[in-house]
Amino acid sequence: MTRFRISQGAADLPRRGRALLGAALALALTLFLGAPAAAAVSKDTALSSEDKVCLDCHAKPGLRKTMANGESLPLYIAPNGFAQSVHNSSGCEGCHSDIDVKAHGKEPKLVKSRREHSQGLMETCRDCHKKTMTQYEDSVHSAQVQAGSAKAPLCSDCHDPHATRSAKDTTGGDNVACQQCHKGVSQAFAASIHGASGDEALACKDCHKTHNIKAAALGDHLKDQCVSCHREVATSHAEWLPNTARHLEAISCPACHSPGTTRRVNLRIYEGTAATQQAAEKVGVPQFVKLASTADPKGSGIDGRALWSLLQDFSRGGSDARTIVRGRLEVQTGIESHSLAAKGKALKDCATCHKQGAASFQKVTVSMAGPDGRPLRHGATDGILNSVESIGSVGGFYTIGSSRIVLLDAMLVMALGAGILIPGGHLVVKLMSARKRKAAAAAEAAEANESTDRS
Ligand code: HEC
Ligand code: HEC
Ligand code: HEC
Ligand code: HEC
Ligand code: HEC
Ligand code: HEC
Ligand code: HEC
Ligand code: HEC
Ligand code: HEC
Repeated sequence: MTRFRISQGAADLPRRGRALLGAALALALTLFLGAPAAAAVSKDTALSSEDKVCLDCHAKPGLRKTMANGESLPLYIAPNGFAQSVHNSSGCEGCHSDIDVKAHGKEPKLVKSRREHSQGLMETCRDCHKKTMTQYEDSVHSAQVQAGSAKAPLCSDCHDPHATRSAKDTTGGDNVACQQCHKGVSQAFAASIHGASGDEALACKDCHKTHNIKAAALGDHLKDQCVSCHREVATSHAEWLPNTARHLEAISCPACHSPGTTRRVNLRIYEGTAATQQAAEKVGVPQFVKLASTADPKGSGIDGRALWSLLQDFSRGGSDARTIVRGRLEVQTGIESHSLAAKGKALKDCATCHKQGAASFQKVTVSMAGPDGRPLRHGATDGILNSVESIGSVGGFYTIGSSRIVLLDAMLVMALGAGILIPGGHLVVKLMSARKRKAAAAAEAAEANESTDRS
């Protein structure tokens, strides 16, 4: 009752002033009455008279609007939910300032779809949450929205604008927002070492952030997150794993820590003068799918020669830009990425990878980052890792013992020993011919061997 009168008495003050006055009066009352329970009252949960005008119509269940595409949009707003939300202080007009109550609601306003309605109104969040908006616009979700996806989340898919609570009031609900759309991953995560550890359980945002979520397989940002908590990995793995740095660079953490997983080798395309940057397609300029199917017209998988010409196609145009691939041993599905288990279940057996015909090296893909950072993939022949033609392009990835061609093993050890990371372009040709000269007869024999292998 007291609360009600405070807001009413102040109804004609500007909104912000009114809220301050309300708070001041509530505080004064608390002091005056000495009632501890009144502390809760200082939170402004009364509806303003302007908001009540809107709710005269919008608190009526059943009010709906028909969109141009035939969808029906419920127009009901729960008064209590709004009164208790963080946005009560800004009122309806804080976000719907374009509405003129006198004319409003009489003439139907044509909006194409519910999605377009949501997308249009999302712009208002920028007025007060500029930083969050900028973070969101840097995300894979926003990139999907820009590309026309109707499934990627807008602000209102995770925050009901009419019932927004402070993150501090919502306990353990952080992952709920993600679960609605990433069910499989969320279930796997909940059962994992990180998800199942009770109060200490991690949230999705501990690795992915909340608003500026990046494509998972882009670069090493997720691995960097792991290492930011597990700072000791380099030293602890060095106790049993030789060439630790190289292993941790070439193998994704879940590839060893997700028990029973199916691994694959992914050859990611890098470019730039030092070829240190993962190549990404520009919005509206698709090239990977086209070039990959040109290189592999039969769809049987890119082989060594096709990869070489594919990289040639990419480096053409850029003056001193280099295009290479870097190999990474990784898991095949998002679910496997999240099924991490206790250290006792991790893969320690060298022979799983370092033996001839190792299962982990039978499935190979070539990938390039798409415009939103998510990988575009094309299958490769397993022979690509061992073929003569790909020595140049796959130079950064080779596993001792898994090669089927003994001679090549020796050659690659030599090449890798020299630490060569071979770019596309004429340098490859030079190196290829240098190598050919060195082992002319040998290479020919190996090539013959290779083609029988591939058939
Ligand atoms: C924090 C900003 C914000 C405030 C405050 C706000 N709205 Fe909204 N409103 C939105 C957004 C965003 C949407 C679009 C929601 C969506 O995506 O469906 C919306 C949609 C609506 C709709 C269409 C139905 C729907 O769910 O899409 C109605 C009706 C509406 N608001 C009424 C109100 C009323 C009445 C108030 C005050 C009691 C209010 N709004 C306060 C942001 C706000
Ligand atoms: C007299 C009843 C009435 C009042 C008062 C009223 N609305 Fe509406 N409102 C409607 C009707 C009817 C529609 C559906 C119009 C249509 O079909 O295009 C609507 C639609 C909306 C929509 C959906 C988007 C749009 O513009 O079509 C929003 C948002 C909204 N109202 C917000 C508000 C806010 C905020 C207030 C207070 C400032 C308010 N309304 C006051 C009846 C009302
Ligand atoms: C007129 C200003 C205004 C607009 C527009 C606005 N907000 Fe807010 N929002 C606030 C205020 C004030 C708070 C409470 C203070 C705070 O915690 O930052 C808040 C808090 C929030 C919170 C909770 C923050 C927390 O503490 O956990 C979320 C989530 C949020 N807003 C989302 C949105 C979304 C989504 C939109 C667009 C639909 C939006 N806001 C539009 C003013 C606004
Ligand atoms: C995929 C779900 C999701 C989307 C989309 C999303 N949010 Fe959030 N947001 C959350 C979650 C979960 C939290 C609370 C956890 C946290 O603090 O990171 C949060 C927290 C917030 C907060 C308070 C903490 C902070 O980071 O400032 C604000 C304000 C906010 N969101 C506004 C927005 C706005 C504006 C948009 C649209 C540009 C948006 N959110 C889009 C899930 C989402
Ligand atoms: C409304 C549905 C929706 C919600 C809610 C949602 N996402 Fe997404 N998310 C998508 C869609 C759609 C994509 C793009 C297609 C895909 O990868 O499934 C995507 C992509 C992603 C990606 C990139 C996937 C990749 O292949 O690299 C990550 C990571 C991600 N979301 C994490 C989250 C997290 C964390 C949350 C909670 C804070 C969340 N998402 C909430 C729909 C959603
Ligand atoms: C411990 C860190 C960690 C946490 C916590 C985490 N993820 Fe991931 N997430 C990863 C890693 C690592 C990948 C795979 C990256 C790669 O491909 O190299 C990934 C990939 C993803 C992808 C892309 C999957 C695909 O199909 O390629 C989505 C979507 C995703 N995570 C959503 C979530 C959601 C939702 C949650 C919370 C339930 C969550 N993640 C919690 C580390 C984490
Ligand atoms: C070649 C397989 C392999 C790779 C790659 C690998 N691990 Fe491990 N990891 C193991 C094994 C095996 C153990 C258990 C060692 C032992 O017996 O104590 C372990 C132990 C751990 C432990 C517990 C011991 C400690 O260091 O605190 C953590 C945490 C861990 N790994 C995190 C990671 C992270 C993060 C990555 C990626 C940067 C990673 N691991 C990459 C195989 C691997
Ligand atoms: C926010 C900090 C944080 C991040 C980020 C994180 N972890 Fe953890 N991790 C933990 C904590 C805390 C535990 C202990 C949970 C337990 O044992 O109950 C743990 C446990 C583990 C274990 C089991 C260790 C053991 O002793 O059995 C492995 C393996 C592991 N994490 C790997 C990873 C990998 C891989 C990533 C990245 C994809 C990662 N972690 C990201 C905090 C983190
Ligand atoms: C999960 C698969 C996997 C496991 C398990 C594994 N390795 Fe490796 N190993 C690799 C990959 C991939 C490389 C990187 C090849 C490259 O440099 O291109 C590598 C590289 C090496 C190298 C160096 C080759 C070079 O070119 O520098 C040595 C030596 C090696 N491993 C030994 C071991 C030993 C010993 C163990 C067991 C304690 C082990 N590996 C476990 C996959 C594995």
